[in-house]
Amino acid sequence: MIIAVDGPAASGKGTIARALARHYNLPHLDTGLLYRAVAATLLRAGLEPASEADAVASCGFEDELLGDPWLRTDEVGRLASVVSAHPPVRAALLERQRNFARQPGGAVLDGRDIGTVIAPDAEVKLFVKATPTIRAQRRHLELRKQGADTSLDKVLADIRTRDERDSQRSEAPMRQAEDAAVLDTSFLSIDAAVQRAIALVEQRT
Ligand code: C5P
Repeated sequence: MIIAVDGPAASGKGTIARALARHYNLPHLDTGLLYRAVAATLLRAGLEPASEADAVASCGFEDELLGDPWLRTDEVGRLASVVSAHPPVRAALLERQRNFARQPGGAVLDGRDIGTVIAPDAEVKLFVKATPTIRAQRRHLELRKQGADTSLDKVLADIRTRDERDSQRSEAPMRQAEDAAVLDTSFLSIDAAVQRAIALVEQRT
């Protein structure tokens, strides 16, 4: 069984994907981390994110980098959204994601284009969303807990910029697959969102 979980930043898709993987005992891939690794490699080398050639040169990262907490920062996330718009970067990461999805026994993948491009034949597709304001509030709280000094307005502006870039790019834009079930987590606790996700998987299998 392949479970594809797509949605924008701070929608809850990562938490839901991890919980589904645990519940169904399936391996999980956070595909955003791959784009974050490209961005981090590029940043470290002092290269230019807007340059396609520089972004492509940063695709050969070491797997150990995927465990680096720095990848999860907003700085890297913002740049991941820039480098992920370059078609050759997406092409360089495609096979790795498809192979993960196709492993015997199945897998859970979360990202922006899993249900549309990486695994269009997935048995279960969820599109997780929440309003931009609520996503910004969640992210702001998380950043404050980490000790970051940033305003809610700035976080909201970043979220809107990232949504716009991810949904407007020409290659594999963030889009709800036609056969995806929508899960709006705006007014759900984490537990309630996970229960709802499990119920949606049960309905579809
Ligand atoms: O999900 P996360 O915030 O970690 O993703 C970082 C960035 O990577 C996203 O803003 C998006 O531009 C890109 N991404 C993508 N396709 C995916 C996963 C992430 O383009 N499947």
